Amino acid sequence: MADRPRVFVARRLPDEGLDLVRSVCEVDLWDGDLPPPRDELLRRIAGVDGALTLLTDKVDDEFLDAAGPQLRVVSNYAVGFDNVDVAACTRRGVHVGNTPGVLTETTADLAWALLMAAARRLPEGDRFVREGNWKTWGPLLLLGPDVHGATIGIVGFGRIGQAVARRAQGFGMEILYHDLEPLPSSVSEPLGATYLRLEELLPRADFVTLHVNLSPVTRHLINEKTLALMKPTAILVNTSRGPVVDQVALAAALREGVIWAAALDVTDPEPIPMDDPLVGMDNCLIVPHIASASRATRGKMAEMAAANLIAGVRGEPLPTEVPPPA
Ligand code: DGY
Repeated sequence: MADRPRVFVARRLPDEGLDLVRSVCEVDLWDGDLPPPRDELLRRIAGVDGALTLLTDKVDDEFLDAAGPQLRVVSNYAVGFDNVDVAACTRRGVHVGNTPGVLTETTADLAWALLMAAARRLPEGDRFVREGNWKTWGPLLLLGPDVHGATIGIVGFGRIGQAVARRAQGFGMEILYHDLEPLPSSVSEPLGATYLRLEELLPRADFVTLHVNLSPVTRHLINEKTLALMKPTAILVNTSRGPVVDQVALAAALREGVIWAAALDVTDPEPIPMDDPLVGMDNCLIVPHIASASRATRGKMAEMAAANLIAGVRGEPLPTEVPPPA
């Protein structure tokens, strides 16, 4: 018992993951509904061999100092890892794991749900009914654009972007995409997807959906200038990371009719403050970062994060390791 690896798990996870970790490690579980306060997190990770973190936990030099030199692995319960300073981990020989692949389709489903809901004004319609405003059928009531046959611009054409493209194919859409560079035609051709530079894609797309990692390059990729390139009828969907969009610029664009609507799974910061102008706007739909939130997917993410953690504390290769920066 004494030589079982010690790990800190930063939130209650689906049982499939937690049971696995408990079968191998001595687990200190933060059982709160909110993330552990920073000082509590730093205190609890002291001396652990591994940490299972969430996107709400910042893993930086301070974290690594607090943990100590025996730390072997940080297993992040997310595909995104912008909360982790991977370079700092690499310098100290700490391996970093994430959960790619298992949430691709579920995240694309939610991006699609947001796109449909914003276009067809579902939250507004629901509020309209519940507030007792539904008096009759109306030729002009809650009109929105068609989704089928429209043009979609997918920004970030990795696993999730491509999964969104597959959904767009089913709706007979023209599919444009942008990424750092064009993908091989073996990827883009079966999806009928055309590569464009961002400044070419934005003016043509009826829907712009974001699927990039957050990095210094993508921070505020959607800003006053790029919003101005979009159609006044365009709908922006963001299921990537909040800071990819300059929210002040987005609020102004929605207010002034620069674009028509937005649907956000992610905001900057999270949670979005209730006095943020976007919260009061009918043409901005916001949900609380739930793109991967299907029971099955969260279970698979837990298993994957557990497998990374266990491999790391054993000194074995992580099943899904975030590559150290070049
Ligand atoms: C991720 O995995 O990066 C999502 O944002 C949460 O599932």
